[in-house]
Amino acid sequence: MEQYGIYINGKWVDSTSRETFTTRNPATGEPLAEFPKGTPEDVDRAVKAARKALPSWKATPAPLRAEILYNVARMIEKRKEELATLLTKEMGKIIAEARGDVQEGIDIAKLMASEGRRLKGETVKSELPNKFCMSIRMPLGVVGLITPWNFPFAIPCWKTMPALVAGNTIVFKPATDTPLLLTRLIEIFEDAGLPPGVFNYVTGSGGVVGEAIVSHPGVDGVSFTGSVEVGRRVYTQGAKRLIRVELELGGKNPQIVMDDANIDLAIEGALFGAFGTAGQRCTATSRLIIHEKVYDEMLEKLVERTERLKLGNPLDPSVDVGPVINQGQMEKILGYIDIGKREGAKLVTGGERATGGELDRGWFVEPTIFEAEHGMRITKEEIFGPVLAVMKAKNFDEAIHIANDVEYGLSSSIYTKNVNTAFKAIELLEAGITYVNAPTIGAEISLPFGGVKNTGNGWREAGSAAIDGYTEIKSVYIDYSDKLQKAQIDVPYEKYTKHVEQG
Ligand code: UN1
Repeated sequence: MEQYGIYINGKWVDSTSRETFTTRNPATGEPLAEFPKGTPEDVDRAVKAARKALPSWKATPAPLRAEILYNVARMIEKRKEELATLLTKEMGKIIAEARGDVQEGIDIAKLMASEGRRLKGETVKSELPNKFCMSIRMPLGVVGLITPWNFPFAIPCWKTMPALVAGNTIVFKPATDTPLLLTRLIEIFEDAGLPPGVFNYVTGSGGVVGEAIVSHPGVDGVSFTGSVEVGRRVYTQGAKRLIRVELELGGKNPQIVMDDANIDLAIEGALFGAFGTAGQRCTATSRLIIHEKVYDEMLEKLVERTERLKLGNPLDPSVDVGPVINQGQMEKILGYIDIGKREGAKLVTGGERATGGELDRGWFVEPTIFEAEHGMRITKEEIFGPVLAVMKAKNFDEAIHIANDVEYGLSSSIYTKNVNTAFKAIELLEAGITYVNAPTIGAEISLPFGGVKNTGNGWREAGSAAIDGYTEIKSVYIDYSDKLQKAQIDVPYEKYTKHVEQG
């Protein structure tokens, strides 16, 4: 079995703990690799390395920092198949989706490399003569990045690439279930020419390594993707030190289907949105809100399609749904299925751990559909598994009300052929992302990604907005008048406003 250290100042070294944990393939249970249980001392070493590397990385012209990202993009492209296969083994998503996860990394590398030639500020006109006003972007400094297991490659790329092109140095903690892909990303960055100390990596638990990163006085900003519960803790810790904290948290994403929709298309969307990645996306469709006129027809066809989905080893290209990430997650999902039954929701398909043959070795849950009443816990709480709550709506207003009446606001979708209905939904759905005639999953990296309400705290990843999360704005005034000019005082406003006063 492969063994890894932590990565500090360009070198793989031992953790001070000398203790390790083993990651496993969720489809087969086979052990994959061994990683150190990092300690606060390891984090301290990583932060020190990042601080040391900061001045020269920050002083490197952004277009040159970007060249490294272009190299990285090309290298990932070359290794796409190898990385996707490893990703499927480590995380369990089906191979086609694993390729998509890696592709998302390539896409963001290219987008962020192109940002290296922009990192836009603005110039505005001074109210005084012979004076120039502009704003420029500065890196935050050392940033702590903490990522989840469901996109083991794309999300680390979403965070590291804008951070790096903006001139920050990094202390990175991957999810305990998926540290392996990161070792490859580090290898690629190293080969692409990233200087030592710019990207440091410490594995271990959130409670130890994550906490140590967020509370370390040498960390200037943190970006975290994960649960609301942990997000709150990260935010509170960060608030104590008044540092930047960027959060991407849960979702309870609705797909609305109106009576004028293309029903077959809406079914395709719901299947992909609810059961793609075994429902383990922040953007997964976990609520399907169907107009009463097409409810029976859609539900019947959807159930029939769901029952045809093939579960199995995600490396097999004919498989539709892979395992969930680990036993704990499987138990949580089955627990929610129990809650749904006890609340009186009607189980229409699925509802069990999937077993038999090779499935017995992994953590598989049957794609599950409930007919539910809005307000039940399965219609409100994030499950993060292949469980879909279907609800009936009398009309558009009721559908929007149900869609919005949850604590989250990440993704949302409406199927309709009516342009007025579509635009109205865009206006009314409380979410960071709205799709029309497309499922709630599958955001492209060129637009900002993030949500409202308890899904986040206002920052966005991806798109050029990603740069905002990793930069401070500095306003710059250059006075070339050779005399002291006093803003607000030396401006002869009277001369210009007189006619107004005289009426
Ligand atoms: C996530 O689940 O945290 O939009 C990210 C999507 C993917 C990203 C999901 N591009 O479904």
